[in-house]
Amino acid sequence: MRILVLGSGAREHAIVRALLRSSQPDAHEIIAAPGNAGIAALVETVKLDASNGRLVADYARDSEVDLVVIGPEAPLVAGVGDALRRYGIPVFGPDKAAAALEGSKSFAKRVMEAAKVPTGGAVHADTVEEVEAALDRFGAPHVVKADGLAAGKGVLVTDDRQAALDHASFYLQQGGVLIEEHLAGPEVSLFLLADGHDVLPLSPAQDFKRVFDGDAGPNTGGMGAYSPLPWLSDRWPSEADFVDEVVDRIALPTIRQLEAEGTPFVGLLYCGLILTADGIRVIEFNARFGDPETQVVLPRLDTPLADLITAAATGGLGRLPYPKFSGDVAVTVVLASEGYPENPITGRPIRGLAELEADLPEGVTVDHAATALVDGQYVATGGRVLSVVARGVDFAQARERAYAALGRLDLEGAHFRTDIAARVAQ
Ligand code: AMP
Ligand code: GLY
Repeated sequence: MRILVLGSGAREHAIVRALLRSSQPDAHEIIAAPGNAGIAALVETVKLDASNGRLVADYARDSEVDLVVIGPEAPLVAGVGDALRRYGIPVFGPDKAAAALEGSKSFAKRVMEAAKVPTGGAVHADTVEEVEAALDRFGAPHVVKADGLAAGKGVLVTDDRQAALDHASFYLQQGGVLIEEHLAGPEVSLFLLADGHDVLPLSPAQDFKRVFDGDAGPNTGGMGAYSPLPWLSDRWPSEADFVDEVVDRIALPTIRQLEAEGTPFVGLLYCGLILTADGIRVIEFNARFGDPETQVVLPRLDTPLADLITAAATGGLGRLPYPKFSGDVAVTVVLASEGYPENPITGRPIRGLAELEADLPEGVTVDHAATALVDGQYVATGGRVLSVVARGVDFAQARERAYAALGRLDLEGAHFRTDIAARVAQ
């Protein structure tokens, strides 16, 4: 099969790796658009604006692509899935209408209400007066979210009412905000493949969203992750029982609700969950694989990803068994440019990366995100530069491997969290 992967992040690097790991060697030809320097070392990359539906669909048709995997949210919300489906090309990624599950938090709340999916209370506000009334109704800590897409930076959780008001005022001009009830508890990301009618769950992961150690500083797109989550069996008989509960009470009702509304969801349903004292609650849905969680979930997937994605894109997931995962663990740590998330400084050389990749320690891979090769030298081109991924027999070993590899990289001013999976390793 010829598979086109849209996107340019570490998530897409991990997706490409997993697609290449097929049951038969050379079963699939992968093309990435636009990709990055790491992806280009593995497969053909094409300079293409991944969010331009017409360009992508024309390219896919002319290049006889059999399947398109849409990595990031922007092309989904821009309707790239719709454009491809108009040409009859199988797509892993929902149409614009169903991608509103991620693109519009108000839409997601409405669908959850209709499907009786457990989530926190929320009010959409379009004016400062509405914001103030909602902040007073829910009380502190305040949770303020941009209603539209904001690259993981639209959410503020704070006890400071003025800070909540300022954050809301900024996003009021851009489609309004959601004021939410504050939920407390550990967070879990669970990914499910969906074919519009059925779902198949992957293995749970946990993401570290705040920029600094100890969950300090602003929210980011994600600074690290690990999978699986052994502590789930403190509250459920096993991880599988937790996953079944999410399938039965959250994912399947949501997918069936969208099907009933005539906007079937085909692609990856990302359930962002919080495990409160009162049970599982949805904090957000995304319409695509999470970054950096994908970098720890897909390496552990033993079932060929291409088979799963093809079944999701063409229908028939319900006939497949649950995907199988290896018994080892995975940890990823994100290397970020100076100034990320507010004002990342780019263009600096990433010293040691070529040497590390030429001599990778056991269990370690590097998924590139914002990298480019300039005159034979890797340079950082954005905020989240790369994800170092390490597998191990346990979290202590995986952490040791990841941080030892990171120690070999030298990017001026760069930062990373030192406490990824630290607690679970103890
Ligand atoms: P989101 O982009 O909606 O996933 O929010 C980003 C982060 O903000 C989440 O991972 C949580 O840590 C936090 N957050 C979002 N909504 C809530 C909420 N209702 N209560 C507590 N924390 C929240
Ligand atoms: N890691 C959070 C996200 O992908 O949205």
